[in-house]
Amino acid sequence: MNEVLELFRLLFNLPPGASTVADEIDWLHFSVISVTMVMSAYVFGAVFWFTVRWHRKRAGQLTERVEATRLHEGLIITGVLVTFVLWWVIGFRQYTKMTTAPPDAQTVYVDAKQWMWKFVYADGRAENDTLTVPVGKPIKLVMTSRDVIHSFYVPSFRLKQDVIPGRYVALSFTATKPGRYPIWCAEYCGVSHSNMHGEVVVLSAEDYARWSQATVPPGGLAARGKEVATKRQCVACHTLDGQRHVGPSFRGLYGSQVVLSDGRHVLADEAYLTRSMMEPNVEVVDGFKPVMPSYQGTLTPAEAGALVELIKSLREESGQASGVALPTLTIEGDGGAP
Ligand code: CUA
Repeated sequence: MNEVLELFRLLFNLPPGASTVADEIDWLHFSVISVTMVMSAYVFGAVFWFTVRWHRKRAGQLTERVEATRLHEGLIITGVLVTFVLWWVIGFRQYTKMTTAPPDAQTVYVDAKQWMWKFVYADGRAENDTLTVPVGKPIKLVMTSRDVIHSFYVPSFRLKQDVIPGRYVALSFTATKPGRYPIWCAEYCGVSHSNMHGEVVVLSAEDYARWSQATVPPGGLAARGKEVATKRQCVACHTLDGQRHVGPSFRGLYGSQVVLSDGRHVLADEAYLTRSMMEPNVEVVDGFKPVMPSYQGTLTPAEAGALVELIKSLREESGQASGVALPTLTIEGDGGAP
């Protein structure tokens, strides 16, 4: 049976399947294509045969009247109906499987924008254009778009979902083989649509554990700052990736010359950053509303320091928010699913 599936993938130039749904989706795809091909061939064959068999042999000849029996008509109608309803039932079950995540699924937030895919993990880590997941664990993607309609497409997982601004959609998958799989945007979304691609990196359980530890360092004040930013809700208004939100982004802020609403310029150093936490509406950055509450008495000095360290660590303009490179990837043979 698997040989049939492999032959089909070869014929249609499909990448190998690397998720739990890939095989059954291919089977459905394969059966729909084969049945429709066979039926089309049958119809064209019949047309050809009728043309030969009943062509007019002399002028004025009347063609024979051909009538199907009730049984023939009944069989054709029920046959077609049953086939299509069956495909629908199978397809709907697959759709439900892909849109309903099991309760133990790991959540990843997917935010699409012109022209990148941004992934935020439940523990606060973030990556651009790279989605790192463990093999064999169900993943729930909670997806939205920041600007226009994009479509999240991972061919190897047989996974495709439109993401729409202002709406959240969930999608679930379980990767079956460690490796790197391309992500594409499958909805024309502007001039750089074709550059809007990324990669799903599927790691073995051990590599994933190592990667998680590397990206969320247990020590380090900046790492602690990230926890504080999440705990104290800083990230509700300040992004870590340079995006403008309710407040200025933390990325690229430290060391920059900030223009205030009263026209003054200040250097965003440790002092300014701390003042902004304690008396946020005294020196408001130009273009933002003075809506931030004071954190005087809420943030401990250690927490304020950690936040400053976090902002300092986000000095550079590009790269991953975590600033930690991915560990070397080891891909186990092509052994397939365990
Ligand atoms: Cu995003 Cu095309």
